[in-house]
Amino acid sequence: MAQPTPARTHLDWWRSAVIYQVYVRSFADGDGDGTGDLAGVRARLPYLAELGVDALWFTPWYLSPLKDGGYDVADYRAIDPAFGTLAEAEKLIAEAGELGIRTIVDIVPNHVSDQHSWFRAALAAGPGSPERELFHFRPGRGEHGELPPNDWPSQFAGSTEPVWTRLPDGEWYLHLFTPEQPDLNWAHPAVRREHEEVLRFWFERGVAGVRIDSAALLAKDPELPDFVEGRDPNPFVDRDELHDIYRSWRRVADDYDGIFVGEVWLPDTERFARYLRPDELHTAFNFAFLSCPWDPERLRTSIDETLAEHAPVGAPATWVLCNHDVTRTATRYGREDTAFAFATKAYGTPTDLVLGTRRARAAALLSLALPGAVYLYQGEELGLPEVEIPRDRIEDPMHFRSGGTDPGRDGCRVPLPWVADAPYAGFGSQQETWLPQPVNWSSYAADLQAEDSGSMLRLYREAIRLRPAFGDGPLTWRPAPDGVLHFVRQDGAAHCLVNLSATPVDLPDHSELLLGSGPLDPQGRLPQDTAVWLRA
Ligand code: NOJ
Repeated sequence: MAQPTPARTHLDWWRSAVIYQVYVRSFADGDGDGTGDLAGVRARLPYLAELGVDALWFTPWYLSPLKDGGYDVADYRAIDPAFGTLAEAEKLIAEAGELGIRTIVDIVPNHVSDQHSWFRAALAAGPGSPERELFHFRPGRGEHGELPPNDWPSQFAGSTEPVWTRLPDGEWYLHLFTPEQPDLNWAHPAVRREHEEVLRFWFERGVAGVRIDSAALLAKDPELPDFVEGRDPNPFVDRDELHDIYRSWRRVADDYDGIFVGEVWLPDTERFARYLRPDELHTAFNFAFLSCPWDPERLRTSIDETLAEHAPVGAPATWVLCNHDVTRTATRYGREDTAFAFATKAYGTPTDLVLGTRRARAAALLSLALPGAVYLYQGEELGLPEVEIPRDRIEDPMHFRSGGTDPGRDGCRVPLPWVADAPYAGFGSQQETWLPQPVNWSSYAADLQAEDSGSMLRLYREAIRLRPAFGDGPLTWRPAPDGVLHFVRQDGAAHCLVNLSATPVDLPDHSELLLGSGPLDPQGRLPQDTAVWLRA
């Protein structure tokens, strides 16, 4: 049954927010050492305020050996010294708040770093110890325990590596990702208690929300049985026990008016929506939309399915085109296969960046006109392309765990270009950046784009400024020629049209053209791969 829509208050900011993802390591370098940091972010807060975003989501900034870009957390209550200090994080949260920008932190509950004090203690304490009960330690199979305890597949797409590692004392431990990311045992009360305290720790410091990493993986079948494709329930994905965990997290968040956004990759829309019930998570990332090809029917279906699956639980949709794990939008849309899938990532894929960029501009207007919250990934507003990183500079474990066939995810994590006429495109480094910037990187610099009314940056700024014209009500499709998406909101007062067909189309009657992703043709028609916003 549909939940009644509650009356809106400022506490509902997240229902229609524009949230900007900061990958700290690659955002801006304040101390010149080649790695982005909190000082760099603080210096660029005015840029983010001018862009007009409502909140920042920071990928993990905690103490970490950075074996998986910080998704291997050694201490949740400390900032990695490469990024700054806890005091600086507190200042950043406060300074952003003064500019009207909220902060979302990233919590990684499925696993910790192998350098986390709990795991070190578990290794030292040995088999059978209470310390090991916080993780999944098991004897191996086979005559001498030489075989892993089960056959679960790695959660790093394309990885051929096992999810178990054997210790010198003979026991094996489970890690769905790298061996440096041991999985926690969520059946243990201390694991639950600790995470609720970590949530409070960050809410007490003024954060407005928490992104939950790998949110559907925490709970495991206690028997750790082999994986059988299609068997229900799955031994480690989307288990029913998770909902009790998130209900209890929700009670913590409610004490602070905090919100959650879950990283929930699930093909089953009904199962997905369960996480968004009123006493669980507020929102979850829309990976179906992120993976959808540049195809009018598929996009429309994705939008309709998204809205339909969220409606019964009363949760707002989110619209995401890319993040730190996937191919950048301008590149993806410039390829023959415009869908995203980890399995199809490959070296040397032919790309038409002019085409991809035109579509990315149209997609920006499409997603920012839809009902719900929008996530932008740093550099998306600059139209950055995916970069093919030289193999000897790649750091992403996904590349190595695929045996070197998957280019990995570093191609979307290249340090941002800020100033065209400065070393390292003004990233702030005085020495080589942690990932190399390609030769033409300066041409995407924010300072150039700020001066160019036709730039991607100016399009995003304008779109975010004008977005309130679409209000917070529902969407209604209007009849449109084949290949054209046309919907209205605000009882028909605001229109969004996107032409994905080769035929230019006439615009409907309107009083004002608010914004276009590109020029109309000489006859005033909307050309291919172009979007407009109109006021009726
Ligand atoms: C999802 C994160 O987005 C990704 O970057 C990370 O590698 C895995 N979870 C494991 O934490």
